[in-house]
Amino acid sequence: MNPRGHTVGLFDSGVGGLSVLKALLADMPTSRFVYLADGAHAPYGERSPQHIAERAHRITDRLREDFGIEALVVACNTATALAIEGLRAQHLGWPIIGVEPALKPAAALTRSGHVGVLATRGTVESERFARLRDRLQNEASERLHIRSQACDGLADAIERDDPPAIRQLVRHYLGALESASTDLPPMDTLVLGCTHYPFASEVLQELSGPGVTLVETGAPVARRTRTVLAGMSDTEDAAAMASPNPGVTLLSTGNPYGLAEAAEHWLGLKAKAQRLDC
Ligand code: DGL
Repeated sequence: MNPRGHTVGLFDSGVGGLSVLKALLADMPTSRFVYLADGAHAPYGERSPQHIAERAHRITDRLREDFGIEALVVACNTATALAIEGLRAQHLGWPIIGVEPALKPAAALTRSGHVGVLATRGTVESERFARLRDRLQNEASERLHIRSQACDGLADAIERDDPPAIRQLVRHYLGALESASTDLPPMDTLVLGCTHYPFASEVLQELSGPGVTLVETGAPVARRTRTVLAGMSDTEDAAAMASPNPGVTLLSTGNPYGLAEAAEHWLGLKAKAQRLDC
């Protein structure tokens, strides 16, 4: 555990990044987290790369300027895929941690060699995702097959907390993944490549079957964030910005009440959420 607290910013299009916040709170309990849900500009998954990049830059600037964050976790696979390189170039030398579909852990876990990935269209169609998938498949030669499925509307249904729609969409997309993979051995590992999807893990597990292991990214991202911050613990900047009070600040460009409710429901977190125009 980190001996002193840090102030870490996170953002997502909505409530999905709370699945990453949950892991961060468990891993770095002495830190302060500033979470922004960009509800007024969501969902990200079916929007243009320009839209995502513009939002990512604006949010990062705002969190750095007004909330004194020491590091940023892009708690969204889509924004990581489409904007993290630009963000890092803009904020050179400043820690920005991204969230990517956990293909590498899945490749290590699979026994059948068939890994499925559910993610947003933005992630699945990104160059960054294709590079990661191709690299792993080439390294493993014939033994690894990664098949992905874009899940339009699923993050939105989770955001609206609409169980019948979630079930219908999960059934539909798992079916699509299966019909596109009839040439492969049975899928035994399913990567949840969107930070919203862990909040649908019960129905995902039920409909994909007991033989399938679901893989998500919260815990490894939290570990990575802790390691990165531990490495800069002694810098003057970090010491000056050490968090005096651990806890969570919730911000939303959309509906702050919905965010506070989701944080209480999923994380047992009792925190007020404020609206932020950004
Ligand atoms: N939670 C996000 C992700 O991890 C984006 C969901 C969306 O807004 O489409 O990709």
